[in-house]
Amino acid sequence: MSKHLIEPNDLSNEEILKLIEVGKEIQVNPKKYNQLCSGKILASLFFEPSTRTKFSFDAAMIRLGGHIIGFADANTSSAKKGESLADTIRVMNFYSDIIVMRHPKEGAPKLASEYSNVPIINAGDGGHNHPTQTLTDLLTISKYKKTLENHTIALVGDLKYGRTVHSLIKTLAKFNSKKFILVSPDELKLPSFIIDYLKVNYPEIEIAEARYLEDVIEEVDIIYMTRIQKERFFNEGDYIKLKNSFLLNKEKMKKAKKDAIVMHPLPRVNEISYEIDDDPRCVYFDQSNQGVFIRMALITKMLEVGDYASC
Ligand code: CP
Repeated sequence: MSKHLIEPNDLSNEEILKLIEVGKEIQVNPKKYNQLCSGKILASLFFEPSTRTKFSFDAAMIRLGGHIIGFADANTSSAKKGESLADTIRVMNFYSDIIVMRHPKEGAPKLASEYSNVPIINAGDGGHNHPTQTLTDLLTISKYKKTLENHTIALVGDLKYGRTVHSLIKTLAKFNSKKFILVSPDELKLPSFIIDYLKVNYPEIEIAEARYLEDVIEEVDIIYMTRIQKERFFNEGDYIKLKNSFLLNKEKMKKAKKDAIVMHPLPRVNEISYEIDDDPRCVYFDQSNQGVFIRMALITKMLEVGDYASC
């Protein structure tokens, strides 16, 4: 594996399956892991807001016996005074053993990795990638569907700017998905370069498009909802026009398969009605919970401790 995790393809299928195995083992046997990162420091550099990713990494490191430094608001760091990302990373290398960073600019974690001797984990870069959300999603799929293979997956919402979708679709393709159904308004379609990448590398996977989830929901194994992201729009008018494009509610869930699952990286805004939160097929809150365990597994891998000590 490369020393950093910048995009999902930095991990092989074997490495992903091993992380899922360790993520599950941690849940069964947490005591085995609770001192593995004793004395280690994780730097958490969030140049963009976060609840789940930041705090699940913090919780993961604490549950491994390690320590956290960093910021959740770049305005409290010297970035506010104009310090470059390269200089910030050089200095944070003295203070930490591993760096988790989120940045609004696509490619920022890749740039950071060029100045870092400690592992960099991309915790989301603009509309580009979010590889640890993908690992979280895969652990969740593995838990509820038993296998990562042969599913029909509907990806719903902002497929243009949605970094969780970009990372997930490329990774699920590596695990023999059956069909991707892309559900979005015209303005928020999956970028053509990603569709071309899938068609060239995975011609056996069927790709379909739909405007409304209710037209396709009956055939779907995994419904992956995403938020229309206000912060990625250049003008508010375009956002207002699209913000209520999708609402998954009780009526629509009546048509979904009995064993379908509904996922969402969260936060949700207008796309999932609270009235379906108790439907056992809706697994998005447990998905956030799984994020802690897969990130614990990832930290141990990148720091080469525990199950990864002899690698
Ligand atoms: N899923 C996710 O990335 O959530 P946060 O923005 O709260 O980290």
